[in-house]
Amino acid sequence: MILTTGSAGFIGSNFVLDWLTQSDEAVINLDKLTYAGNLDNLATLKSNPNHIFVHGDIGDAALTAKLLTQYRPRAVVNFAAESHVDRSIHGPEDFIQTNIVGTFHLLEAVRAYWSGLTNTEKAAFRFLHVSTDEVYGSLDRDEPAFTETRRYEPNSPYSASKAASDHLVRAYHHTYGLPVLTTNCSNNYGPYHFPEKLIPLMIVNALAGKNLPVYGDGQQIRDWLYVKDHCSAIRCVLQNGKPGEVYNIGGWNEKANLDIVHIVCDILDELSPPATHHLPFSTYRSLITFVTDRPGHDRRYAIDARKIERELGWKPAETFETGIRKTAQWYLDNQAWVNNVLSGSYRQWVEKNYTERT
Ligand code: NAD
Ligand code: TYD
Repeated sequence: MILTTGSAGFIGSNFVLDWLTQSDEAVINLDKLTYAGNLDNLATLKSNPNHIFVHGDIGDAALTAKLLTQYRPRAVVNFAAESHVDRSIHGPEDFIQTNIVGTFHLLEAVRAYWSGLTNTEKAAFRFLHVSTDEVYGSLDRDEPAFTETRRYEPNSPYSASKAASDHLVRAYHHTYGLPVLTTNCSNNYGPYHFPEKLIPLMIVNALAGKNLPVYGDGQQIRDWLYVKDHCSAIRCVLQNGKPGEVYNIGGWNEKANLDIVHIVCDILDELSPPATHHLPFSTYRSLITFVTDRPGHDRRYAIDARKIERELGWKPAETFETGIRKTAQWYLDNQAWVNNVLSGSYRQWVEKNYTERT
């Protein structure tokens, strides 16, 4: 079996759902259930004996040590993190605790477990650390996309904490020989995405007739990947990646934020026009509102994904056009999930992040 962490969140839950449709190998899913963790994401696995959910913190070394000894996984995939840049600006401490200190404690527990394995088991074991392209910092418009050898230049408390965790993971390979793999992926979108992030926020706000808040001039560029493609890349790296190596994962799909918001509006105009929600306008584009920029806002991210294609044969299956359509349809079909997520604590976050933006 494998142990995954943070798999009640957006990417981790998609990973576990996909894994269990494609494999008989069981998954132990360790998650702290922060505001971003949601057991509704895993509702279809309720009676699946191959999914073992454990409520806990990656920083609790005694708990992870116990789980590792009890279940003896052949691999650990670490998704657990605080993941939202704006929240890291309002309060960086949780990011330091989970992303740096938590990853350190997890690595220590894994190292102790791994040290006690037989030589064959040791060689087969993998610790896969899921990271982000944001550790590389911001690109100018005409600079080449990030390769795996790009210097780390994180600019937000979020990306700095992820960068620190990447360095710890690297050190555990170099110093102790732990067979680690690190993946640095671009921005994901798709089902179960918490509506604090750009794409789900725009979908949820549009359908409710609320403003679509675009930071600054909306010309910041991100490289978007459908979440199921990220999951297939992680499976591929876990299976065939070389220990100690880093793999950048991306969708070859750079778009400015304002273009993303336009595309989302146009698809919703088609799939669920404003009139069907009794909204007094003909296109969701009329809800677009430019608001105060994010401090230290990175201008552009872009991933050079040639290494994973060349060495492991992975390529994304979705184009942005197919992926965004599936995503919009998923939100329309899953209003109950959306309504459960828009709880009290979500409303407090929206107030904190948007009321002071003019
Ligand atoms: P998310 O915020 O949706 O989910 C994070 C999950 O981790 C939640 O279920 C939360 O409860 C859990 N968690 C938080 N602290 C924990 C702790 N101390 N112990 C155990 N569980 C804890 O995040 P996501 O978007 O699914 O991202 C998953 C991983 O992928 C993160 O490491 C993130 O940095 C990375 N990543 C995300 C993106 C993206 O676009 N979302 C892109 C590249 C990389
Ligand atoms: P986000 O989804 O938070 O991901 P990240 O900051 O990790 O890239 O934001 C994506 C882009 O969208 C980023 O440039 C900030 C911008 N953005 C807005 O313009 N308005 C919003 O309300 C949000 C949440 C993000």
